[in-house]
Amino acid sequence: MAGLEQTRQLVTEIPGPASLELTKRRAAAVSHGVNVSLPVFVARAFGGIIEDVDGNRLIDLASGIAVTTVGNSSPRVVEAVRAQVAEFTHTCFMVVPYEQYVAVAEELNRITPGSGEKRSVLFNSGAEAVENAVKIARSYTRKPAVVAFNHAYHGRTNLAMALTAKSKPYKSGFGPFAPEVYRAPVSYPYRDGLLDKELATDGEKAAARAIDVIESQVGADSLAAVIIEPIAGEGGFIVPADGFLPTLLDWCRKNDVVFIADEVQTGFARTGAMFACEHEGIEPDLICTAKGIADGLPLSAVTGRAQIMDASHAGGLGGTFGGNPVACAAALATISTIESDGLIERARQLERLITEPLLRLQAGDDRIGDVRGRGAMVAIELVKSGTAEPDAELTQKLSTAAHAAGVVVLTCGMFGNIIRLLPPLTIGDELLNEGLDILGRLLGDL
Ligand SMILES: Cc1ncc(COP(=O)(O)O)c(C=O)c1O
Repeated sequence: MAGLEQTRQLVTEIPGPASLELTKRRAAAVSHGVNVSLPVFVARAFGGIIEDVDGNRLIDLASGIAVTTVGNSSPRVVEAVRAQVAEFTHTCFMVVPYEQYVAVAEELNRITPGSGEKRSVLFNSGAEAVENAVKIARSYTRKPAVVAFNHAYHGRTNLAMALTAKSKPYKSGFGPFAPEVYRAPVSYPYRDGLLDKELATDGEKAAARAIDVIESQVGADSLAAVIIEPIAGEGGFIVPADGFLPTLLDWCRKNDVVFIADEVQTGFARTGAMFACEHEGIEPDLICTAKGIADGLPLSAVTGRAQIMDASHAGGLGGTFGGNPVACAAALATISTIESDGLIERARQLERLITEPLLRLQAGDDRIGDVRGRGAMVAIELVKSGTAEPDAELTQKLSTAAHAAGVVVLTCGMFGNIIRLLPPLTIGDELLNEGLDILGRLLGDL
Protein backbone atom coordinates (compact mmCIF):
# COMPACT_ATOMS: atom_id res chain seq x y z
CA MET A 1 0.00 0.00 0.00
CA ALA A 2 1.42 3.40 -0.93
CA GLY A 3 1.73 6.11 1.69
CA LEU A 4 3.34 4.27 4.60
CA GLU A 5 4.96 0.86 4.72
CA GLN A 6 2.39 -1.63 6.03
CA THR A 7 4.67 -3.36 8.52
CA ARG A 8 5.11 -3.19 12.28
CA GLN A 9 8.44 -1.77 13.38
CA LEU A 10 9.71 -0.82 16.83
CA VAL A 11 12.78 1.40 16.93
CA THR A 12 12.43 2.62 20.54
CA GLU A 13 10.65 1.56 23.71
CA ILE A 14 6.95 2.43 23.68
CA PRO A 15 6.55 5.31 24.44
CA GLY A 16 9.78 6.61 22.89
CA PRO A 17 11.69 9.77 23.86
CA ALA A 18 9.85 12.14 21.50
CA SER A 19 6.47 10.86 22.75
CA LEU A 20 7.64 11.25 26.37
CA GLU A 21 8.59 14.88 25.69
CA LEU A 22 5.16 15.55 24.15
CA THR A 23 3.51 13.79 27.11
CA LYS A 24 5.16 16.35 29.41
CA ARG A 25 3.81 19.21 27.28
CA ARG A 26 0.41 17.55 27.21
CA ALA A 27 0.35 17.31 31.01
CA ALA A 28 1.14 21.02 31.31
CA ALA A 29 -1.28 22.21 28.60
CA VAL A 30 -4.17 19.79 28.19
CA SER A 31 -6.93 19.24 30.75
CA HIS A 32 -6.20 16.16 32.83
CA GLY A 33 -9.84 15.21 32.32
CA VAL A 34 -8.85 13.82 28.92
CA ASN A 35 -7.29 10.37 29.17
CA VAL A 36 -5.34 8.52 26.49
CA SER A 37 -5.16 4.75 25.99
CA LEU A 38 -1.69 4.65 24.49
CA PRO A 39 0.77 7.46 25.30
CA VAL A 40 2.50 7.67 21.93
CA PHE A 41 2.01 10.66 19.66
CA VAL A 42 1.15 10.01 16.05
CA ALA A 43 3.14 11.49 13.18
CA ARG A 44 1.39 9.73 10.28
CA ALA A 45 -1.15 7.00 9.71
CA PHE A 46 -2.06 5.08 6.61
CA GLY A 47 -4.09 1.95 5.96
CA GLY A 48 -3.58 -0.30 9.00
CA ILE A 49 -0.42 1.38 10.34
CA ILE A 50 0.11 4.28 12.74
CA GLU A 51 3.61 5.76 12.79
CA ASP A 52 4.59 7.65 15.95
CA VAL A 53 6.90 10.63 16.38
CA ASP A 54 9.79 8.28 17.28
CA GLY A 55 9.44 6.35 14.02
CA ASN A 56 7.72 3.28 15.55
CA ARG A 57 5.10 1.70 13.30
CA LEU A 58 2.14 0.25 15.18
CA ILE A 59 -0.53 -2.15 13.95
CA ASP A 60 -3.88 -0.38 14.17
CA LEU A 61 -6.55 -2.68 15.60
CA ALA A 62 -8.67 0.23 16.84
CA SER A 63 -9.33 2.60 13.90
CA GLY A 64 -9.58 5.50 16.38
CA ILE A 65 -12.60 3.72 17.92
CA ALA A 66 -14.22 2.48 14.70
CA VAL A 67 -13.70 5.70 12.75
CA THR A 68 -11.12 5.01 10.03
CA THR A 69 -13.12 2.08 8.74
CA VAL A 70 -12.00 2.57 5.14
CA GLY A 71 -8.36 2.81 6.30
CA ASN A 72 -6.33 5.62 7.83
CA SER A 73 -6.10 8.49 5.33
CA SER A 74 -7.94 6.57 2.65
CA PRO A 75 -6.68 7.98 -0.70
CA ARG A 76 -10.08 8.87 -2.19
CA VAL A 77 -11.12 10.59 1.02
CA VAL A 78 -7.87 12.59 1.14
CA GLU A 79 -8.38 13.64 -2.48
CA ALA A 80 -12.01 14.66 -1.89
CA VAL A 81 -11.07 16.67 1.20
CA ARG A 82 -8.24 18.46 -0.64
CA ALA A 83 -10.55 19.35 -3.52
CA GLN A 84 -13.32 20.61 -1.23
CA VAL A 85 -11.12 22.64 1.08
CA ALA A 86 -9.77 24.50 -1.96
CA GLU A 87 -13.33 25.47 -3.01
CA PHE A 88 -14.88 26.61 0.29
CA THR A 89 -14.60 25.53 3.92
CA HIS A 90 -17.81 26.86 5.45
CA THR A 91 -20.83 28.98 4.79
CA CYS A 92 -23.10 27.36 7.43
CA PHE A 93 -25.79 25.24 5.80
CA MET A 94 -28.45 27.22 7.67
CA VAL A 95 -27.16 30.49 6.13
CA VAL A 96 -26.12 29.63 2.56
CA PRO A 97 -26.69 25.94 1.77
CA TYR A 98 -24.57 23.73 -0.50
CA GLU A 99 -25.05 20.55 -2.52
CA GLN A 100 -22.60 18.39 -0.53
CA TYR A 101 -24.91 18.38 2.52
CA VAL A 102 -27.90 17.36 0.38
CA ALA A 103 -25.84 14.65 -1.34
CA VAL A 104 -24.84 13.12 2.02
CA ALA A 105 -28.49 13.17 3.15
CA GLU A 106 -29.48 11.44 -0.11
CA GLU A 107 -26.80 8.79 0.38
CA LEU A 108 -27.80 8.15 4.00
CA ASN A 109 -31.46 7.89 3.01
CA ARG A 110 -30.46 5.38 0.34
CA ILE A 111 -28.11 3.13 2.36
CA THR A 112 -29.90 2.95 5.73
CA PRO A 113 -32.40 0.12 6.30
CA GLY A 114 -36.01 0.91 5.39
CA SER A 115 -37.55 1.47 1.99
CA GLY A 116 -40.01 4.29 2.73
CA GLU A 117 -39.46 8.01 2.32
CA LYS A 118 -36.65 9.23 4.57
CA ARG A 119 -34.89 12.41 5.63
CA SER A 120 -31.54 13.12 7.26
CA VAL A 121 -30.05 15.92 9.31
CA LEU A 122 -26.33 16.38 9.91
CA PHE A 123 -24.36 17.22 13.05
CA ASN A 124 -20.77 16.95 14.31
CA SER A 125 -20.54 14.12 16.85
CA GLY A 126 -22.26 10.93 17.86
CA ALA A 127 -23.52 12.49 21.09
CA GLU A 128 -25.07 15.35 19.13
CA ALA A 129 -26.83 12.90 16.83
CA VAL A 130 -28.22 11.03 19.86
CA GLU A 131 -29.45 14.24 21.52
CA ASN A 132 -31.17 15.30 18.32
CA ALA A 133 -32.77 11.90 17.71
CA VAL A 134 -34.39 12.24 21.14
CA LYS A 135 -35.49 15.81 20.35
CA ILE A 136 -37.07 14.59 17.10
CA ALA A 137 -38.82 11.65 18.80
CA ARG A 138 -40.24 13.93 21.51
CA SER A 139 -41.37 16.44 18.96
CA TYR A 140 -43.14 13.72 16.94
CA THR A 141 -44.77 11.83 19.81
CA ARG A 142 -45.33 14.80 22.17
CA LYS A 143 -44.20 12.50 24.97
CA PRO A 144 -41.24 13.05 27.34
CA ALA A 145 -39.64 9.76 28.45
CA VAL A 146 -36.75 7.81 26.91
CA VAL A 147 -35.63 4.26 27.67
CA ALA A 148 -31.99 3.25 27.34
CA PHE A 149 -30.39 -0.06 28.28
CA ASN A 150 -27.91 -1.58 30.70
CA HIS A 151 -24.35 -1.44 29.31
CA ALA A 152 -25.34 1.35 26.89
CA TYR A 153 -23.02 4.10 25.79
CA HIS A 154 -24.43 7.10 23.95
CA GLY A 155 -21.89 9.90 24.53
CA ARG A 156 -20.72 12.58 26.92
CA THR A 157 -23.15 15.52 26.59
CA ASN A 158 -25.77 15.92 29.31
CA LEU A 159 -28.61 13.89 27.83
CA ALA A 160 -26.19 11.37 26.26
CA MET A 161 -24.55 10.92 29.69
CA ALA A 162 -27.94 10.28 31.22
CA LEU A 163 -28.57 7.62 28.57
CA THR A 164 -25.15 6.03 29.17
CA ALA A 165 -25.06 3.26 31.76
CA LYS A 166 -21.53 3.27 33.15
CA SER A 167 -20.76 5.71 35.93
CA LYS A 168 -16.95 5.81 35.95
CA PRO A 169 -15.44 7.50 34.01
CA TYR A 170 -18.38 8.85 32.01
CA LYS A 171 -20.84 10.23 34.57
CA SER A 172 -19.26 10.30 38.00
CA GLY A 173 -19.34 13.84 39.42
CA PHE A 174 -21.04 15.35 36.36
CA GLY A 175 -24.69 15.29 37.43
CA PRO A 176 -27.46 16.30 37.71
CA PHE A 177 -28.46 14.50 34.54
CA ALA A 178 -31.33 15.08 32.12
CA PRO A 179 -34.66 13.85 33.53
CA GLU A 180 -37.14 11.34 32.08
CA VAL A 181 -34.49 8.75 31.24
CA TYR A 182 -35.18 5.15 32.29
CA ARG A 183 -33.13 1.98 32.03
CA ALA A 184 -34.11 -1.52 30.95
CA PRO A 185 -32.14 -4.80 30.86
CA VAL A 186 -30.46 -5.59 27.55
CA SER A 187 -29.96 -9.09 26.13
CA TYR A 188 -26.40 -10.13 27.13
CA PRO A 189 -26.17 -13.78 26.12
CA TYR A 190 -22.89 -14.61 27.93
CA ARG A 191 -23.93 -13.15 31.31
CA ASP A 192 -27.67 -13.92 30.96
CA GLY A 193 -26.68 -17.55 30.38
CA LEU A 194 -25.04 -17.72 33.79
CA LEU A 195 -28.47 -17.16 35.35
CA ASP A 196 -30.85 -18.73 32.86
CA LYS A 197 -29.75 -20.77 29.81
CA GLU A 198 -32.94 -20.01 27.90
CA LEU A 199 -32.53 -16.26 28.33
CA ALA A 200 -29.13 -16.50 26.62
CA THR A 201 -30.55 -17.87 23.39
CA ASP A 202 -34.17 -16.75 23.40
CA GLY A 203 -34.22 -13.09 22.39
CA GLU A 204 -37.99 -12.89 22.71
CA LYS A 205 -37.74 -13.90 26.35
CA ALA A 206 -34.99 -11.32 26.94
CA ALA A 207 -37.16 -8.69 25.22
CA ALA A 208 -40.15 -9.66 27.39
CA ARG A 209 -37.98 -9.01 30.47
CA ALA A 210 -37.13 -5.52 29.13
CA ILE A 211 -40.70 -4.75 28.07
CA ASP A 212 -41.94 -5.76 31.50
CA VAL A 213 -39.61 -3.18 33.09
CA ILE A 214 -40.64 -0.52 30.54
CA GLU A 215 -44.37 -1.10 31.02
CA SER A 216 -44.22 -1.23 34.80
CA GLN A 217 -41.71 1.58 35.40
CA VAL A 218 -42.36 4.03 32.55
CA GLY A 219 -45.57 3.23 30.64
CA ALA A 220 -46.01 3.61 26.88
CA ASP A 221 -48.28 6.62 27.32
CA SER A 222 -45.36 8.77 28.46
CA LEU A 223 -42.61 7.09 26.43
CA ALA A 224 -41.28 8.96 23.37
CA ALA A 225 -38.45 6.63 22.40
CA VAL A 226 -36.42 3.54 23.05
CA ILE A 227 -32.75 4.00 22.11
CA ILE A 228 -30.46 1.03 21.68
CA GLU A 229 -27.15 0.09 20.09
CA PRO A 230 -27.78 -3.00 17.92
CA ILE A 231 -24.43 -4.22 19.28
CA ALA A 232 -23.34 -2.44 22.46
CA GLY A 233 -19.95 -0.83 21.71
CA GLU A 234 -18.34 0.60 24.86
CA GLY A 235 -20.51 -1.88 26.78
CA GLY A 236 -18.47 -4.77 25.38
CA PHE A 237 -19.58 -5.76 21.87
CA ILE A 238 -22.67 -7.45 23.23
CA VAL A 239 -24.59 -9.09 20.39
CA PRO A 240 -28.16 -9.58 21.62
CA ALA A 241 -29.86 -12.97 21.34
CA ASP A 242 -31.80 -13.55 18.09
CA GLY A 243 -35.25 -12.03 18.29
CA PHE A 244 -34.46 -9.45 20.98
CA LEU A 245 -34.37 -6.38 18.74
CA PRO A 246 -37.30 -7.38 16.46
CA THR A 247 -39.51 -8.04 19.51
CA LEU A 248 -38.59 -4.70 21.01
CA LEU A 249 -39.23 -2.89 17.72
CA ASP A 250 -42.58 -4.62 17.38
CA TRP A 251 -43.59 -3.46 20.85
CA CYS A 252 -42.51 0.11 19.99
CA ARG A 253 -44.61 0.12 16.80
CA LYS A 254 -47.69 -1.10 18.67
CA ASN A 255 -47.27 1.55 21.35
CA ASP A 256 -46.45 4.69 19.35
CA VAL A 257 -42.88 4.70 20.66
CA VAL A 258 -40.05 5.75 18.34
CA PHE A 259 -37.35 3.08 17.98
CA ILE A 260 -33.92 4.73 17.70
CA ALA A 261 -30.95 2.60 16.66
CA ASP A 262 -27.66 4.10 17.77
CA GLU A 263 -25.37 2.86 14.99
CA VAL A 264 -22.62 5.34 15.80
CA GLN A 265 -20.10 2.52 16.38
CA THR A 266 -21.68 -0.26 14.33
CA GLY A 267 -22.46 1.66 11.13
CA PHE A 268 -20.77 1.86 7.72
CA ALA A 269 -19.83 -1.77 7.01
CA ARG A 270 -18.14 -2.32 10.37
CA THR A 271 -20.20 -5.41 11.25
CA GLY A 272 -20.32 -7.03 7.81
CA ALA A 273 -23.49 -5.19 6.78
CA MET A 274 -23.80 -1.50 5.96
CA PHE A 275 -25.72 -1.19 9.27
CA ALA A 276 -25.89 -3.74 12.10
CA CYS A 277 -29.71 -3.60 12.19
CA GLU A 278 -29.68 -5.46 8.86
CA HIS A 279 -28.43 -8.61 10.63
CA GLU A 280 -31.64 -8.54 12.67
CA GLY A 281 -33.88 -7.75 9.69
CA ILE A 282 -35.22 -4.63 11.39
CA GLU A 283 -35.97 -1.15 10.09
CA PRO A 284 -35.60 1.35 12.92
CA ASP A 285 -37.60 4.60 12.90
CA LEU A 286 -34.47 6.68 13.42
CA ILE A 287 -30.78 5.81 13.03
CA CYS A 288 -27.91 7.76 14.59
CA THR A 289 -24.59 7.60 12.73
CA ALA A 290 -21.15 9.17 13.19
CA LYS A 291 -17.63 7.66 13.61
CA GLY A 292 -17.09 5.64 10.40
CA ILE A 293 -19.15 8.05 8.29
CA ALA A 294 -16.26 10.23 7.05
CA ASP A 295 -12.92 8.46 7.75
CA GLY A 296 -12.07 10.78 10.64
CA LEU A 297 -13.65 14.07 9.60
CA PRO A 298 -16.19 15.13 12.24
CA LEU A 299 -19.68 14.39 10.98
CA SER A 300 -22.78 12.71 12.36
CA ALA A 301 -26.37 12.26 11.29
CA VAL A 302 -29.88 11.29 12.22
CA THR A 303 -31.73 9.50 9.43
CA GLY A 304 -35.27 8.21 9.58
CA ARG A 305 -38.84 8.03 8.44
CA ALA A 306 -39.85 11.32 6.80
CA GLN A 307 -43.01 11.63 8.88
CA ILE A 308 -41.00 11.57 12.12
CA MET A 309 -38.01 13.56 10.84
CA ASP A 310 -40.28 16.38 9.60
CA ALA A 311 -42.21 16.71 12.85
CA SER A 312 -39.87 19.36 14.28
CA HIS A 313 -40.66 23.01 13.48
CA ALA A 314 -38.40 24.82 10.97
CA GLY A 315 -35.34 26.14 12.81
CA GLY A 316 -35.66 23.53 15.55
CA LEU A 317 -32.72 21.46 14.30
CA GLY A 318 -29.26 22.50 13.17
CA GLY A 319 -25.96 23.91 14.41
CA THR A 320 -23.12 26.09 13.13
CA PHE A 321 -20.80 23.33 11.95
CA GLY A 322 -23.31 20.53 11.35
CA GLY A 323 -22.75 19.04 7.88
CA ASN A 324 -19.53 20.97 7.27
CA PRO A 325 -18.74 20.80 3.51
CA VAL A 326 -15.27 19.29 3.99
CA ALA A 327 -16.68 16.56 6.24
CA CYS A 328 -19.47 15.98 3.71
CA ALA A 329 -16.93 15.54 0.90
CA ALA A 330 -15.13 12.98 3.09
CA ALA A 331 -18.40 11.16 3.80
CA LEU A 332 -19.31 10.89 0.11
CA ALA A 333 -15.84 9.47 -0.67
CA THR A 334 -16.09 7.09 2.32
CA ILE A 335 -19.47 5.69 1.27
CA SER A 336 -18.38 5.25 -2.34
CA THR A 337 -15.15 3.53 -1.20
CA ILE A 338 -17.13 1.08 0.95
CA GLU A 339 -19.36 0.22 -1.99
CA SER A 340 -16.81 0.15 -4.80
CA ASP A 341 -14.14 -1.74 -2.85
CA GLY A 342 -16.47 -4.42 -1.47
CA LEU A 343 -15.70 -3.51 2.13
CA ILE A 344 -18.89 -5.08 3.52
CA GLU A 345 -17.70 -8.44 2.22
CA ARG A 346 -14.21 -7.66 3.54
CA ALA A 347 -15.68 -7.08 7.03
CA ARG A 348 -17.25 -10.56 6.84
CA GLN A 349 -13.88 -12.05 5.88
CA LEU A 350 -12.25 -10.21 8.77
CA GLU A 351 -14.82 -11.71 11.15
CA ARG A 352 -13.54 -15.17 10.22
CA LEU A 353 -9.89 -14.11 10.28
CA ILE A 354 -10.23 -12.60 13.75
CA THR A 355 -12.69 -14.97 15.39
CA GLU A 356 -11.12 -18.30 14.40
CA PRO A 357 -7.73 -17.76 16.12
CA LEU A 358 -9.46 -16.23 19.14
CA LEU A 359 -11.74 -19.28 19.48
CA ARG A 360 -8.69 -21.55 19.23
CA LEU A 361 -7.07 -19.51 21.98
CA GLN A 362 -10.22 -19.76 24.09
CA ALA A 363 -10.25 -23.56 23.74
CA GLY A 364 -6.94 -23.69 25.63
CA ASP A 365 -7.41 -20.78 28.02
CA ASP A 366 -10.39 -20.56 30.35
CA ARG A 367 -9.62 -16.92 31.14
CA ILE A 368 -11.30 -16.09 27.81
CA GLY A 369 -14.92 -16.30 28.95
CA ASP A 370 -16.41 -15.26 25.64
CA VAL A 371 -15.42 -14.42 22.06
CA ARG A 372 -18.10 -12.41 20.28
CA GLY A 373 -18.93 -9.75 17.74
CA ARG A 374 -19.78 -9.34 14.10
CA GLY A 375 -17.62 -8.38 11.13
CA ALA A 376 -14.54 -6.42 12.10
CA MET A 377 -16.00 -5.70 15.54
CA VAL A 378 -14.85 -8.58 17.74
CA ALA A 379 -14.06 -8.75 21.45
CA ILE A 380 -12.85 -11.16 24.09
CA GLU A 381 -14.27 -11.04 27.61
CA LEU A 382 -11.59 -11.92 30.17
CA VAL A 383 -12.51 -13.63 33.43
CA LYS A 384 -10.73 -15.19 36.40
CA SER A 385 -9.73 -18.75 35.55
CA GLY A 386 -12.55 -21.25 35.98
CA THR A 387 -15.14 -18.56 36.84
CA ALA A 388 -17.16 -15.84 35.10
CA GLU A 389 -15.77 -13.18 37.41
CA PRO A 390 -14.54 -10.22 35.30
CA ASP A 391 -10.75 -9.77 35.30
CA ALA A 392 -10.10 -6.08 34.69
CA GLU A 393 -6.51 -6.36 35.93
CA LEU A 394 -5.59 -9.02 33.37
CA THR A 395 -7.33 -6.97 30.66
CA GLN A 396 -5.32 -3.88 31.53
CA LYS A 397 -2.08 -5.85 31.59
CA LEU A 398 -2.81 -7.42 28.21
CA SER A 399 -3.68 -4.09 26.66
CA THR A 400 -0.52 -2.42 28.04
CA ALA A 401 1.64 -5.33 26.85
CA ALA A 402 0.04 -5.16 23.38
CA HIS A 403 0.77 -1.44 23.17
CA ALA A 404 4.39 -2.02 24.22
CA ALA A 405 4.64 -4.60 21.43
CA GLY A 406 3.27 -2.14 18.85
CA VAL A 407 -0.32 -3.36 18.60
CA VAL A 408 -3.06 -0.81 19.23
CA VAL A 409 -6.03 -2.42 21.00
CA LEU A 410 -8.80 -0.95 23.16
CA THR A 411 -10.45 -2.10 26.37
CA CYS A 412 -14.13 -1.68 27.17
CA GLY A 413 -17.05 -3.11 29.11
CA MET A 414 -18.98 -2.22 32.25
CA PHE A 415 -16.43 -4.20 34.28
CA GLY A 416 -13.36 -3.12 32.23
CA ASN A 417 -12.62 -6.75 31.30
CA ILE A 418 -13.02 -6.71 27.55
CA ILE A 419 -10.44 -6.30 24.79
CA ARG A 420 -12.07 -5.09 21.60
CA LEU A 421 -10.71 -5.22 18.09
CA LEU A 422 -11.80 -2.75 15.42
CA PRO A 423 -9.24 -2.85 12.62
CA PRO A 424 -9.63 -0.74 9.49
CA LEU A 425 -11.38 -2.92 6.89
CA THR A 426 -8.48 -2.34 4.49
CA ILE A 427 -5.87 -3.87 6.83
CA GLY A 428 -3.83 -6.61 5.12
CA ASP A 429 -4.24 -10.21 6.28
CA GLU A 430 -0.58 -10.48 7.23
CA LEU A 431 -0.64 -7.41 9.43
CA LEU A 432 -3.85 -8.51 11.10
CA ASN A 433 -2.54 -12.03 11.73
CA GLU A 434 0.64 -10.64 13.19
CA GLY A 435 -1.36 -8.44 15.58
CA LEU A 436 -3.53 -11.38 16.65
CA ASP A 437 -0.51 -13.68 17.11
CA ILE A 438 1.15 -11.10 19.35
CA LEU A 439 -2.03 -10.72 21.39
CA GLY A 440 -2.32 -14.49 21.86
CA ARG A 441 1.35 -14.83 22.83
CA LEU A 442 1.13 -12.00 25.33
CA LEU A 443 -1.98 -13.47 26.95
CA GLY A 444 -0.16 -16.80 27.31
CA ASP A 445 2.76 -15.03 28.99
CA LEU A 446 0.59 -13.26 31.54
C1 LIG B 1 -22.81 3.83 20.24
C2 LIG B 1 -22.25 5.20 20.45
N1 LIG B 1 -23.06 6.25 20.53
C3 LIG B 1 -22.61 7.50 20.70
C4 LIG B 1 -21.25 7.75 20.82
C5 LIG B 1 -20.77 9.13 21.02
O1 LIG B 1 -20.11 9.58 19.89
P1 LIG B 1 -19.15 10.86 19.95
O2 LIG B 1 -17.96 10.46 20.77
O3 LIG B 1 -18.81 11.14 18.53
O4 LIG B 1 -19.93 11.95 20.59
C6 LIG B 1 -20.35 6.67 20.75
C7 LIG B 1 -18.91 6.91 20.89
O5 LIG B 1 -18.15 6.03 21.26
C8 LIG B 1 -20.86 5.37 20.57
O6 LIG B 1 -20.05 4.31 20.49
